[in-house]
Amino acid sequence: MNSTTSEPVEISELRCIACGLRTHSPGHRFRCSTCADLLEIVYPGWDTSDGRRTAPFTAAALKALWRARRKSLVSLDQSGVWRFRELLPHFSDQEKIITLREGNTPLYELPSCARAVGVEYLLAKHQGMNPTGSFKDTGMTVAASMARQEGFGWVGCASTGNTSASVAAYAARAQMRSLVLIPQGKVSWGKLSQALDYGAITVELKTDFDGCSQILDEVVDRMPVYLLNSVNPYRIEGQKTAAIELLEQLDWQPPDHIIVPGGNLGNSSALGKAFCELEKLHFITRLPKVSIVQAEGANPLVRTMRETGGRKLVSVQAETAASAIRIGRPASWKKAVRVLEQLGGTVAEVSELEIAWAKAQIGADGVGCEPASAVTLAGLKRMVRDGFVKPGESVVLILTGHLLKDPDFTLQFHRGELFGGKEAEILVPHQRAPIVLEASADAVISALKRVEETSEA
Ligand code: F0G
Repeated sequence: MNSTTSEPVEISELRCIACGLRTHSPGHRFRCSTCADLLEIVYPGWDTSDGRRTAPFTAAALKALWRARRKSLVSLDQSGVWRFRELLPHFSDQEKIITLREGNTPLYELPSCARAVGVEYLLAKHQGMNPTGSFKDTGMTVAASMARQEGFGWVGCASTGNTSASVAAYAARAQMRSLVLIPQGKVSWGKLSQALDYGAITVELKTDFDGCSQILDEVVDRMPVYLLNSVNPYRIEGQKTAAIELLEQLDWQPPDHIIVPGGNLGNSSALGKAFCELEKLHFITRLPKVSIVQAEGANPLVRTMRETGGRKLVSVQAETAASAIRIGRPASWKKAVRVLEQLGGTVAEVSELEIAWAKAQIGADGVGCEPASAVTLAGLKRMVRDGFVKPGESVVLILTGHLLKDPDFTLQFHRGELFGGKEAEILVPHQRAPIVLEASADAVISALKRVEETSEA
């Protein structure tokens, strides 16, 4: 798996986001040994502000190198994460890297969603097109590889489903054992079945995601299990590459707005970090606004911003059918607040009905996504209404999970089983329940004619 090119090597360090303490040892919980806050990865060699260092590379040279790697047959170059390895922590032994050729996800136009919302340029970066069907893979390839390099036999996570699928897959590729803790009855079958198939020890606990996280912390205190939740800063580094790849797809012209769902708030932190680093390294000359959307029933960041101006976490008892983001005490809230401040984004909360409606609209553009991803379109509608997003501005939604992750939700939506009451009538034109007919061409043709008549009417 050796690389074909001679590459500049950047040594990274871990730094506490609160007290600034620098360390080379993350501890088993990835918390600062002094103040217990989260750690982040920094690259001292990139700081040329004191004039004593010169940058280790130029943006133009890296852009060309990354493009050239698209033709490479080397597995690291074929990964949409490791293709950008100059902006990631260095691995001295590249043989230890576990890759499923993650990243390389498409950027789609959403023309009918754009019309419905009233914006001209609406694109979706579909991170659900990763190997296990969610954005988690881009971070997992880095963090799971680190676990392997450090010689761990076990990796573990608490999860609302997608992380568990990704952890299980990457662990299996390297013959490591995986432990996943999930809230009982609150994870979609699609995700649960992935964890089982990839061979994870899958434990359903009678608690929510936040409870699972707490229990996992205790487990890693007492057992040599490598923690793969997004408090692990190597996850964040891998997830940065979605932003790098997006900008490459846009020929390095940032959109005006990026809209991302917020759960445990690792992903928004990762994307924000990437944009700031890329600006500092002169890949781009302006920053997009990064905004974060949550479900009304799982809105700790929205409340934190509204009620404390981002100074103190307001945790909530989370409830939403968008089960991936059913999180009340997000670990990375401080990192997300910093992203909102640095990149001038906003927060929005959306109702269950708005989420379902937006999901069907994304589906009707031939793209589709899981419910948690659809909060982005629902949030955009609100941001256009509030005037935060102007009709002529360009917007990229980050779709985080594949449509097939939660087929139950989709079926219930189209059968009209999700909502009752007058409010839900707005959804009827978007619902396409299966039609049961007798087995004849005549019956099928009259059904087609009925559809034509109603759509012409
Ligand atoms: N969208 C999907 C599809 C997710 O699975 C998640 C998180 C998010 C959005 C939110 O991202 O946590 O980085 O803010 N899922 C985690 C899991 C929590 O366990 O799969 P975040």
